[in-house]
Amino acid sequence: MAPHPLIEKFRHAGQGQVFAFFDRLTPAAQTHLLAETAEIDLAEVAHLTRTLLAPGATAGVNLAGLTPAPYELRPEHGGDAAAWAQAKAAGEAALRVGRVAVFTVAGGQGTRLGYDGPKGTFPVTPLKRKPLFQVFAEKIHAAGVRYGRPLHWFIMTSHQNHAATEAFFAEHKFFGLDPARVHFFRQGRMPAVDFAGRILLETPGTLALSPDGHGGSLRALERSGALDLMAREGIDTLSYFQVDNPLVRCVDPAFIGWHLQRGSQMSSKMVPKAYPEEKLGHFCVQGGRLVVVEYSDLPMALQRETDAGGRLRYLAGSIAIHVLDREFIRHVARGEGMALPFHRADKKIPTVDAAGQPVKPAAANGVKFELFVFDALPFAKNPLVIETRRADDFSPVKNAEGVDSPQTCRDDQIRQFVRWLQAGGAAVETDATGLPSATLEVSPLFGYDEDSFAEAWKKRSPRPAVSDGLYLV
Ligand code: UD1
Repeated sequence: MAPHPLIEKFRHAGQGQVFAFFDRLTPAAQTHLLAETAEIDLAEVAHLTRTLLAPGATAGVNLAGLTPAPYELRPEHGGDAAAWAQAKAAGEAALRVGRVAVFTVAGGQGTRLGYDGPKGTFPVTPLKRKPLFQVFAEKIHAAGVRYGRPLHWFIMTSHQNHAATEAFFAEHKFFGLDPARVHFFRQGRMPAVDFAGRILLETPGTLALSPDGHGGSLRALERSGALDLMAREGIDTLSYFQVDNPLVRCVDPAFIGWHLQRGSQMSSKMVPKAYPEEKLGHFCVQGGRLVVVEYSDLPMALQRETDAGGRLRYLAGSIAIHVLDREFIRHVARGEGMALPFHRADKKIPTVDAAGQPVKPAAANGVKFELFVFDALPFAKNPLVIETRRADDFSPVKNAEGVDSPQTCRDDQIRQFVRWLQAGGAAVETDATGLPSATLEVSPLFGYDEDSFAEAWKKRSPRPAVSDGLYLV
């Protein structure tokens, strides 16, 4: 019998090894493997092998002509207070007419955190241990109420966590949101290859496939019909953030307003890096375009460089919060003159040996390919970076312990609640870092930013004393 045309095609491309055990598989397993291989773009794999795996291709990113990117300073750092107020008003107006939707990338695997399950289900708040998804859901719900227009929320999952994510929302009744406004879709997958570009098997009957990076979100938004849905609903602006950061303002009127008023197609928030080694991407300009250079790609000497005033030169750290124009996403997704580049990550990839026996490599044995969303910035018209206060926008949960861990994130949430309470006149004693001795929590349904909190607090009568276990809802 003639081999299946797909098998022929793979052999012809030098990728016949993925069918090494095909004859041993059950018919169902054969069908499964054929379906997986049908997903693979062999020309793309060949191109990536040539461009990213060839000798010399690991030389690193091109740093020629790189300079730090300019950004809009916050008023307290000398920025134009009137312009910020105007931006906020413009953003609020956009929210009131329903031009804005929310987008969370939640396809990552949370490997560093060592948590088994979709990262968005990780319990994160200090008192109630609400999961990340609930924090966002409540912020989104409250913002919808505040602006009189319930928001649509798009959530990008991966093949691995899609079903579990949907089940989690169903189990929790969508945390009070209208299920018709919560949209899940899977990101794409890429095959992992060995250092010679040969596609790896994970088992004799399955490919080693992994999510195509958060940059894959742009094509997934297009493919899933999310962009069409936005267009039908009159939504032209998408507020983007990562699932690991419960402090994020899911919709920030000032940020949205800056983006709209500047006619920007993609805008980003920065925080001044806390220390040179902080693991953030850096906003830079190269050849007249805005780019982000990852912490792993910018030489440490440059990360440590200071200006005449002793400040870090490459100060602007990316916290992966963006606002994107709907049609810009469509152009990038379709690759209309602006395809995002893949990045190479060398990894330990579980695979099989020549006998089909499992291999758990002790060192990197291959490469995964990922797209990064910030690589769309160089293609955007009028891209804009604005400064934000770290304490009000960024405290991610990335590691099990130490920096960016559940503990640091809980503390940062409590500090934020305390600042809001103090601004409202409550007496709260704290240590030098702003932490009180009490553990307390504010539900986003009570207040999700300083403005909404201040309004709710003013109305609350009688006001509770701040004590351990206080939960404001
Ligand atoms: C990322 C950014 C970095 C930024 C930092 C801020 C990259 C390469 N770097 O670093 O510039 O300063 O966040 O916190 O992104 N995700 C998917 N699908 C994927 C891969 C990731 O949805 O295929 C999502 C994850 O669920 C997560 C986010 O993207 O929400 C970040 O991914 P992660 O790999 O943890 O990025 P970092 O190295 O922390």
